[in-house]
Amino acid sequence: TAANPEGTGNTGNPERLPLEFLFSPEFTRDPYAEYGRLREKGPVHPIDFPPGVSSFLVIDHEHGRAALSDPRLAKNLRNGPDLFRELAGGNPALAENLLSTDPPDHTRLRRLVSRAFTARRVESLRPRIQEITDRLIDTMAARGRADLLDDFAFPLPITVICELLGVPAGDRDDFRVWSATLVTPSLDEESVKRRDAVNTAIRAYFSGLIAERRAEPRDDMVSALVTASDEDELLSEPELIAMLTLLLIAGHETTVNLIGNGMLALLTHPGQLRLLQEEPELIPGAVEEFLRYDGPVERATLRFATEDLRIAGVRIPEGSMVQVSLGAAGRDPGAFDDPDALDVTRDGGHHLAFGHGVHFCLGAPLARLEARIAFGTLLRRLPDIALDCAPEQLEWRGSASIVRGLQALP
Ligand code: HEM
Repeated sequence: TAANPEGTGNTGNPERLPLEFLFSPEFTRDPYAEYGRLREKGPVHPIDFPPGVSSFLVIDHEHGRAALSDPRLAKNLRNGPDLFRELAGGNPALAENLLSTDPPDHTRLRRLVSRAFTARRVESLRPRIQEITDRLIDTMAARGRADLLDDFAFPLPITVICELLGVPAGDRDDFRVWSATLVTPSLDEESVKRRDAVNTAIRAYFSGLIAERRAEPRDDMVSALVTASDEDELLSEPELIAMLTLLLIAGHETTVNLIGNGMLALLTHPGQLRLLQEEPELIPGAVEEFLRYDGPVERATLRFATEDLRIAGVRIPEGSMVQVSLGAAGRDPGAFDDPDALDVTRDGGHHLAFGHGVHFCLGAPLARLEARIAFGTLLRRLPDIALDCAPEQLEWRGSASIVRGLQALP
């Protein structure tokens, strides 16, 4: 249920945010300083999109949380500005996945995938996740130097999601390219062409795999979803493909950066690193703190207003796009004491890094399991782990990407 999204705050003094600035390298490097400055002026700010696109950014925890579960803020791109309607029209994978549907379609799709993505199935992956983690660490330890992203944080969740879905290991390189293309939503002609080509390739790939699993089911999620869709005829083939594409991308692009951003936070806070090394039982709480402090999904939480409404007193016209910055919500002093401090003993489980409401991250239990095993094992097996460059030399991934993460972590 939606909390009162109008909230109690007054409109403050909203500042028009230039779109170029939100995508600039300075902002990408440290969005939190800018959010701190903006917070003084209020919780909701309009973004200067191209003409015809009305857009707002919500940066506090209270209104952000309420907006994420407000039924007047829909996910379906058809409710958005023309630009997004066009995107949705030309791309069924975009229009029919969990993240772009609203109840009742969303409810039906989510129920089906939840049936296949069970706690039992996630928990059964534990020994495999540990084995993959150890193998990757063996290789890094033997070399002495590594890029923690390329050599560890990327291959771990990719291997796990491919095994969970039941897609052949040999096809992983293609997925990495596909998923990197799809999470960079630029609208120039070249990018649109590239994305179309990738979507066609993905559709062909999954159609083939679905046919194979239909003929010979296995103990994997593709088979479970095919069975679920065939038994009840509740899921069309395009919907099934959209679901698999979303799972593959979500499984590729997010946990990577929980491991990368979290490890960077630890390496730049040696006192916290030592504390975790001495008290590994703090790791589950530390993972929540990494999610709050610098989570992988910073502001890719689009919603579209299906009617005129107000958030914190700011008028949001029907058809506007609303983005909730989960990163800014994590640094809201109204929700967390001393929010810019990294504190692995903090009781910060109310962060919004996995979203909130009906779209709450389906993969959260898997991401948590992977991250706990990854941090636990890295800290135990590599006690003298350290950054191999000055923190200022680190580069963040293209600011147009919808995930927040580093290019490399030496
Ligand atoms: C939804 C974050 C890992 C699958 C979401 C949302 C967030 C999020 C914020 C909601 C977006 C919104 O409301 O607009 C994360 C983070 C992860 C992570 C921070 C890792 C640290 C994963 C993994 C999977 C996954 C590993 C799958 C294997 C999904 C799916 C949805 C979703 C399917 C859509 C749910 C729905 O709309 O009902 N995630 N995610 N995520 N996530 Fe994750």
